[in-house]
Amino acid sequence: MKITNICCIGAGYVGGPTMAIIAQKCPNIKVMVVDLNQERIALWNDADVTKIPIYEPGLSDVVAEARGRNLFFSTEVDRAIEDAQLIFISVNTPTKTYGLGKGMAADLKYIELCARQIARVATSDKIVVEKSTLPVRTAEVLKNILEHTGSGVKFQILSNPEFLAEGTAVQDLLQPDRVLIGGDTTPEGEKAIQALVDVYANWVPNDRILTTNVWSSELSKLTANAFLAQRVSSINAMSELCEKTGADVNEVARAIGMDSRIGSKFLKSSVGFGGSCFQKDILNLVYIAKSYGLNEVADYWEQVIIMNDHQKRRFANTIVQTLYNTVSDKKITFFGWAFKKDTNDTRESAAIYVADYLLNEQSKIAVYDPQVKESQIQKDLNYLETRSLEANKKGVTCFEDPYLACQEAHAIAVLTEWDAFKSLDWQRIYDSMKKPAFIFDGRNLLDEKKMRDIGFVYQAIGK
Ligand code: UDX
Ligand code: ADP
Repeated sequence: MKITNICCIGAGYVGGPTMAIIAQKCPNIKVMVVDLNQERIALWNDADVTKIPIYEPGLSDVVAEARGRNLFFSTEVDRAIEDAQLIFISVNTPTKTYGLGKGMAADLKYIELCARQIARVATSDKIVVEKSTLPVRTAEVLKNILEHTGSGVKFQILSNPEFLAEGTAVQDLLQPDRVLIGGDTTPEGEKAIQALVDVYANWVPNDRILTTNVWSSELSKLTANAFLAQRVSSINAMSELCEKTGADVNEVARAIGMDSRIGSKFLKSSVGFGGSCFQKDILNLVYIAKSYGLNEVADYWEQVIIMNDHQKRRFANTIVQTLYNTVSDKKITFFGWAFKKDTNDTRESAAIYVADYLLNEQSKIAVYDPQVKESQIQKDLNYLETRSLEANKKGVTCFEDPYLACQEAHAIAVLTEWDAFKSLDWQRIYDSMKKPAFIFDGRNLLDEKKMRDIGFVYQAIGK
């Protein structure tokens, strides 16, 4: 089957960039991205292409090229489903906040709603592709719903997890390490797999397109994220030991990373990993392992999260201890709120938890982040339900100017590794702060010698 019409349900961090690249690379395929969120769709359609709702380097150029040609954004979900031969499901699958599996399992309600909608609307055969990260065996759920509620049309379910990392989404999509497609081993399943392989083959070399059975594909996504997160927790565990012993975690990371069996990536010690995937996927893995009675497997992976929570708490705690055991009414400036550089995404960002901890200690927090809006920061804090909306508003002030953010501050905490922070006028910042002026570098970002020469009391993770 030759695909000429694709629909993607969910215009978020995964669906938006992925579809933009498919449209750019496959000008003969019509790509319709739909979402229930009208505001989000309006931004994707904004005449000023820099207003698209997701900040990713290079993305607005891709959208500018393809939008209106073969890339469209709309809220008309039913119509897009009806017209498409292949439907990607890219809706959010947050960790459940209620009921069975609360705090651990993935909430599949949005996925299920999509499946029911597809089943209700479809009048011709469809290939349905899970793009969101999902617990193993979700494809089975999808299949069940589609087969039992559809009106006789045939569905093929594929798993095609997305491995892009935020901040480098465009590059990752253009030159993926691999594209993974899982499907049934029946003749119909193989045909569906081939149809999707042909879409990617427009720009991805064949030897990078991997096909597997559905379960392997689903589990590979969780496994990849668990392994990556485990590396970060492993180096973060060493960072605490380094601080006690006088070793330097950067030197250790460099030394071990040169072993080709270990490799140098994902060995950067930090205030803790964030993002929508790592924690959610590991919790999910833990939940699945427990549900099969594999308690040792579950405990093993859970430790990655325990270490990460410890790292965030430890960072906040160091700030309090160093500032003479009290931060009450002291102004602490956060450089960065996003969970990593080059994104406006704040989901599970370490900054949220560090802020929460410091607000409990009655600190006054000033935030400067080049991409995150104040409303998002307040939303993130309110979501924790630790204190009232008013208290969060009073406790946290956002600035568009980094220099204003630092005036009269007792300390600066670097939470996100934005490149722009390195080239600020640090002397000017120092001059405007209370003395002694502290920097707590949660990202090992700044030049230690330079900061100390200016006069800062500088502390970095793992040193
Ligand atoms: C991750 C996976 O990398 C990607 O393949 C998957 O599709 C989605 O989840 P993402 O969450 O966008 O991507 O970002 P990633 O670059 O993996 O970083 C995750 C977190 O780990 C960030 O908070 C980052 O700052 C932190 N991190 C990463 C470290 O603290 N140290 C490192 O060495 C690497
Ligand atoms: P991700 O990082 O997985 O892309 P996001 O939260 O950024 O997650 O995006 C998911 C999008 O899916 C949201 O914009 C949400 O409005 C949309 N969505 C969720 N459920 C549905 C649905 N049933 N139909 C259409 N869009 C949906």
